[in-house]
Amino acid sequence: MKKRNVLKAAVVAVAALSSLGSIAQSNTFKIGLILPMTGQQASTGRQIEAAARLYMAQNGDTIAGKKVELILKDDTSVPDVTKRLAQELIVNDKVNVIAGFGITPSAFATAPLATQSKTPMVVMAAATSSITEASPYIVRTSFTLPQAAVALGDWTVKNGIKKVVTLVSDYGPGIDAEKYFRERLILNGGQVTEALRVPLRNPDFAPFLQKVRDLKPDALFVFVPSGAGAAVMKQFLERGMDKAGIKLIGTGDVTDDDQLNDMGDGALGVVTSHHYSAAHPSPVNKKFVEAFSKANKGMRPNFMAVGGYDGMRVIYEALKKTKGAGGGDALLAAMKGQIFESPRGPMYIDAQTRDVVQNIYLRKVERKDGELHNVEFDVIKDVKDPGKAK
Ligand code: DHB
Repeated sequence: MKKRNVLKAAVVAVAALSSLGSIAQSNTFKIGLILPMTGQQASTGRQIEAAARLYMAQNGDTIAGKKVELILKDDTSVPDVTKRLAQELIVNDKVNVIAGFGITPSAFATAPLATQSKTPMVVMAAATSSITEASPYIVRTSFTLPQAAVALGDWTVKNGIKKVVTLVSDYGPGIDAEKYFRERLILNGGQVTEALRVPLRNPDFAPFLQKVRDLKPDALFVFVPSGAGAAVMKQFLERGMDKAGIKLIGTGDVTDDDQLNDMGDGALGVVTSHHYSAAHPSPVNKKFVEAFSKANKGMRPNFMAVGGYDGMRVIYEALKKTKGAGGGDALLAAMKGQIFESPRGPMYIDAQTRDVVQNIYLRKVERKDGELHNVEFDVIKDVKDPGKAK
C-alpha cells in the first residue's frame, strides 16, 4: 500500500471505531460510584458497594434497553481525590450519574462539578444538612444529622436525663449533631454542661473520655462517623463510665450495625436515634438483610448499605421513567419526588429540597437471636431535615 492509502485506511478505521464507540455509549448507562474503599472510612465503601451490587443482581443490568455499568473508584476519603475522580468519570468516561460520597468534605468538593456538567449526584452516605444546597444536581438517600439528633433531644429529657456532655467529630456532621441535639435538649429543659470535639482523622478518644468521667454528666451524647463507634464504646467501658452512672447516647452512627455485634455486652442498653436498623421488623427489610448477608459471607448491612441500595433504586427508577433520554436534567427531574418503601421503612425524596424524608426510630441495644441489635422502640414519622427550615 502506498503511504497515502495507509493513512486513508487508518482514518477510516478510526472513524469507524469512534462511531462504534458512540453507539456503544448510547446503549450504556454509566454510574460512577466514588467511595472510600481503603483508609479510615473503608467500611462505608465496603457496605455501599455490596448494597449497590446486590440491587443490580436483584433488578438486572438492562434497563430501558440500556446496559447499566457501575464504575467503582476508591477516593480513600480524601476530598481532592474524590473531586479528581469525579472529573475523570464525567469527562473521560462520560458517566450519566455520579454517586457514593462517604464523607461530607468529599461531597462538598464534588458539588461544583455536578452543577457545571449538569450531572445528577446521588449522595448515599454523607449527612451534613447543607450538602443538598451545594448543588441543584444533588439528591440524597442517606440521612441528615439534624434529623436524627432532634428525636434524641426529645427522648433524653423525657427519660430523666438532664445534664449531658456532647462529644462529636469536629466537622460538618458532628457540628450539626451537636447543635441540633443541644437546641432540643435546652428546649426541653435540659442542659449541655460541656461540648467536646475530636478530630476526624486518627482521633484519640482517651483524654476526652477522661474529662467526661470527671464531669460526671447524666449522659454522654456521641457522634462519630461510621466505623469509629467501636473504639468509643471500648474506651467508654474500659474507663468504667457506665458503672459510674454515665449513660451513653447518640445518633445511630455509634452503634453501627457493621460493628455492633462485636462490641460486647457492655453495649447493651445504649439508646440511639437513627433511620435504619438491620433489625427493623418489616418484610422488606427481612428480605434485604437475608439477601445482603447471603451475597456477602454473612455480613450485616448497616445504614450506609441502605443509603447505597436506595440510591441505586432512585437511579434505576429515573432511568426507567426517562428511558435514558433528556440527559442529566431529565434524570434529575425523575429522581425528585420518588416515594417508596425502603428496607428502612417508607421514604421519599422531597422534590423541593432533593433531600430524604423518612422515619426516625429510637432504638435500644438488645440481644436478639444471640446477636446484639439496635431494637426499635419508638418512631417519629416522616421527618424532614430540620436543617432546611432555618
Ligand atoms: C458522615 C460520615 C459518616 O460515616 C456518618 O456516619 C455520618 C456522616 C459524613 O461525613 O457526612
